[in-house]
Amino acid sequence: MARNLAPSTAPAVAPVVEQDLLRFITCGSVDDGKSTLIGRLLWESRQVFDDQLDTLREESRRHGTQGTEMDFALLVDGLSAEREQGITIDVAYRYFSSGTRRFIVADTPGHEQYTRNMVTAASTADAAVLLVDARAGLQRQTRRHAYIASLMGVRNVLLAVNKMDLVAYDPAVFRGIEQDFLRFAKDLGFESITALPVSALRGDNMLERSAHMPWYLGPTLWGWLSAVPVPRRSAGDKCVFPVQWVNRPHADFRGYSGSLASGRLRVGDALRVSASGELARVAEIVTLDESLAEAGAGAAVTLRLDRAIDVSRGDVLTRDDAPVECSDQFEAMLVWMHAEPGLVGRNYEIRLATQQATAALTGIDYRVDVNTLAHEPARSLEMNDIARCKIAVGRPLAFEPYANSRTMGGFILIDSFSNATVAAGMITHSMRRASNVHRQALSVTPQQRERLNGHAGRVIWFTGLSGSGKSTLANALEVALHERGMRTYLLDGDNVRHGLNRDLGFTEADRVENIRRVAEVARLMADAGLVVLTAFISPYARDRAMARDIVGAGRFLEVYVDTPLEVCEARDVKGLYRKARSGQIPNMTGIQSPYEAPEQPDMRLSGTGASPEQAVRGLLERVLDSGTT
Ligand code: ADX
Repeated sequence: MARNLAPSTAPAVAPVVEQDLLRFITCGSVDDGKSTLIGRLLWESRQVFDDQLDTLREESRRHGTQGTEMDFALLVDGLSAEREQGITIDVAYRYFSSGTRRFIVADTPGHEQYTRNMVTAASTADAAVLLVDARAGLQRQTRRHAYIASLMGVRNVLLAVNKMDLVAYDPAVFRGIEQDFLRFAKDLGFESITALPVSALRGDNMLERSAHMPWYLGPTLWGWLSAVPVPRRSAGDKCVFPVQWVNRPHADFRGYSGSLASGRLRVGDALRVSASGELARVAEIVTLDESLAEAGAGAAVTLRLDRAIDVSRGDVLTRDDAPVECSDQFEAMLVWMHAEPGLVGRNYEIRLATQQATAALTGIDYRVDVNTLAHEPARSLEMNDIARCKIAVGRPLAFEPYANSRTMGGFILIDSFSNATVAAGMITHSMRRASNVHRQALSVTPQQRERLNGHAGRVIWFTGLSGSGKSTLANALEVALHERGMRTYLLDGDNVRHGLNRDLGFTEADRVENIRRVAEVARLMADAGLVVLTAFISPYARDRAMARDIVGAGRFLEVYVDTPLEVCEARDVKGLYRKARSGQIPNMTGIQSPYEAPEQPDMRLSGTGASPEQAVRGLLERVLDSGTT
């Protein structure tokens, strides 16, 4: 079907980018024949140049899996590492065209560990070709990919039942798989599902109708690709302009550069900065070489506003009459993509359009079993888990539900320690609760409390192995501070775990929550003006960083009680190391569970020194210096 979405009012309008272009993905299990399917399609539709054919013949001989025949998969499996392993490990994009339509196909890897590539590719796809090996039927990975495609907003699916030649072109096999899939996918929200029997290797039902399957009356692969509707995303949608950077070439010009995520924008439009609510009008829309009267979705432009307002990178501009939502809490579907588990309470960095903020999982509503689509409870997210979660961000972000806008509803979570992308998320809706809870202004100020106490609130955070001497040293410091008239309180792991945190154990998830709660309590106590000492193993560096964030870096001191594991184990005051070694307790820090020693603590104390009083002397001076007003 030919479509032409080109605007008729050219040239004063930036071009609408996605005209007559179908982006699709191929997905499914390993060995279902994805690369062969696309390779064959390119070859049959004459999209392969002669020199590529020569290379293909040569490579088929060297790496091919098809004996003396050409291995079409090699046309698509572009990376040499894949060729050597015989699998698709990255997303290979191919561009081709029919008379009426251009195509971009992303061939995504079938291996479970590469789900992230599938997610990436699906996030920009309009349609999906889901392959199934006719002999094997639907696999877990087929279902997972179908589910991910639906989550990522793909609405039209072709179920290509491949290798029909190997089941003697039996219609019953095809119908069985088709029925299985229709049953599985009935609630996934696809607009169309077309099942197609093919043999990618033999060329059945690729471009030409197969003589082996006269019982099949639907479209061929080529026919489906040419006719499947291209969704007109973003046309007529809300105007959303995420600011990528502030453009100040000289003192007289201040512009805001970025790509219009959706909608249209005209000179004179009243715009609103979503976070601050400030208003201004568009004075000029400029591109590299001209000034425009208006711009459409996808256009990369710089906006000049009619007055000076505070706009910076990461702000989102919308039309005044159609604002987007802004919230610091929302619900989202997450695809966890990292070997390190996702834990409630742990802090990540969120990137949504051009916005960046800290983000924490505040709850996991359920995890989806990709085989049955059943919802199951989960306390943490493992690699490839798909779950609905609650997310709290450090500052309100502008967004739209993913169903309305992929740009404004899709985000990634990054581990700020390793810089790895750990999850992809799709916002389902905002949680308004946060916007209805406002902070109450208090009349007694922190300064007044400090004056009354004679010193400022502080948090001295002791970390170290069990038995390292944290409690002893923290205790000695508290005595010394108390003697000098300071108001103190010591929060000790063993004590807090009897009360506030008695519901928590020693899994990674529970320890994160343990530290989060203690940090929140320590913050309140420091607000009240106390010098708070905490003695918790706090084994994970990122959670100690979270504690510092919660308390505020200016009044947080990390003290590492550096005692070798051998010494702690030899002491074994509570007999826990012995029990751990004999397998009676799991997750013991230092034995089965890691301790990430601080690389740059504010202070390092030895837990093996002479007397505790001596050991804390330097620390005492530091606290007295910083703690008095
Ligand atoms: S933390 O890791 O979450 O910071 P926390 O300091 O609260 O731990 O508690 C540690 C104390 O719990 C230890 O000093 C020890 O007495 C006790 N404990 C019991 N089981 C374990 C375990 N598996 N690992 C570490 N400590 C444990």
